[in-house]
Amino acid sequence: MTTGLDESARALLEANTQTADLDGRRFRFTVPSVRDYPFQWFWDSCFHAIVWSRYDAERAADELRGLLAAQEPDGLIPHVVFWKGDLVSRLQWHHLESRTSGRIPFHRAPHTTAQMQPPVLAQAVERVVDAGADGFLAEALPHLERYYRYLAAFRDHDGDGLISIVSQFESGLDFSPAYDDAIGVRRPRPASLLARTRLPQLRNKLANYDLDTIFRRFRHHQEDVLVNAVYGQGLRALARLAGRAGREAVARWATRTADQVTTALVERAWDERTGLFVNLAGPDERRASVKTIHGLMPLVLPDLPPEIVDRLTAHLDDPRTFGAPFPVPSVALDEPTFIRDHRLHGFRFIWRGPLSLNTNWFLVHGLRGHGHDGIADRIAARSREVVERGGLNEFYDPLSGRPVGAERFGWATLVVDL
Ligand code: GLC
Repeated sequence: MTTGLDESARALLEANTQTADLDGRRFRFTVPSVRDYPFQWFWDSCFHAIVWSRYDAERAADELRGLLAAQEPDGLIPHVVFWKGDLVSRLQWHHLESRTSGRIPFHRAPHTTAQMQPPVLAQAVERVVDAGADGFLAEALPHLERYYRYLAAFRDHDGDGLISIVSQFESGLDFSPAYDDAIGVRRPRPASLLARTRLPQLRNKLANYDLDTIFRRFRHHQEDVLVNAVYGQGLRALARLAGRAGREAVARWATRTADQVTTALVERAWDERTGLFVNLAGPDERRASVKTIHGLMPLVLPDLPPEIVDRLTAHLDDPRTFGAPFPVPSVALDEPTFIRDHRLHGFRFIWRGPLSLNTNWFLVHGLRGHGHDGIADRIAARSREVVERGGLNEFYDPLSGRPVGAERFGWATLVVDL
């Protein structure tokens, strides 16, 4: 059944579609926002593919093909693909997120960043395969295997089962107060926030994004709870896909690695006092002290112990923390750093309070998997309400439901999949 929301979602994904030609192939993808984010983004495209898979399996597969084509020899799939060589793309690319050498010159587009984003690719491939995209399983599986093996081999530098990000832009939740402490921001002000979030990227660039050097020399890397929860969920999807393709050894490896992720999150990142998970910063794994949406994200893991599921779920009913009138805020309401808008003193700083439909999507499906349908239905209903009232936006104010952030924003279309 198609609803009015489905029609709006499909129309937006269509309107934000761009094409690019490379080596005789044509790529099609949806940009997150034509005005604010006019490139192909990794986790945005995974979400777009999930929504496309409801309408058009081939278009959904195409959304991911651009990402697969951008895979690096080591297995990394970068967080942004700049398909065009125009000035805006060049400036963005030079803006710290690229490697400094060993890269193809810009006139041979596409160029990519040297960073990752939350690894939601296997979940997206599974949805596209389920939707019936012909031959896509065989096409995507070798890429998926290389990608998740890259994460396990190069990102888990201390071998504890959790992977590390080397800048907060890799978490997908850039500027979240979850990172303030680790980067030395005590009183968040635009100038210090901007300078201190960019400093780790400058160090990364000086190290030419060499992960060994970064892990050995610097302290700004983090074991991020959201990234690891999505990683664990992705490994389970990879295991199912590999099983379907008769690749038993890959399926066993992915299952074993996923088991380790859940065990490590519970042993190392669970905070009994607050009843939330916390990020672990630097080589000494300092625990973040701010209650942010990261802390709830392990709900996406099917093997999370039930007593932990219950404590996390309790937060969604708690009006002091995450039980906002329009759930789920990206920062707990009782945190001094919580803001309703995507702006701090007039400057754009996102993920410091407003709700986003991609994190709602993860949580709704996670809650359903644990049998908490009541709360899941409530979050889904409120999500539809904010979209019906305010359109498909990047963020919404969790106190009033007012749309904030970029308009006509791609992953808000996940609202049809709750
Ligand atoms: C912002 C978000 C990131 C997203 C990107 C494009 O940087 O924090 O998660 O991928 O915009 O939409």
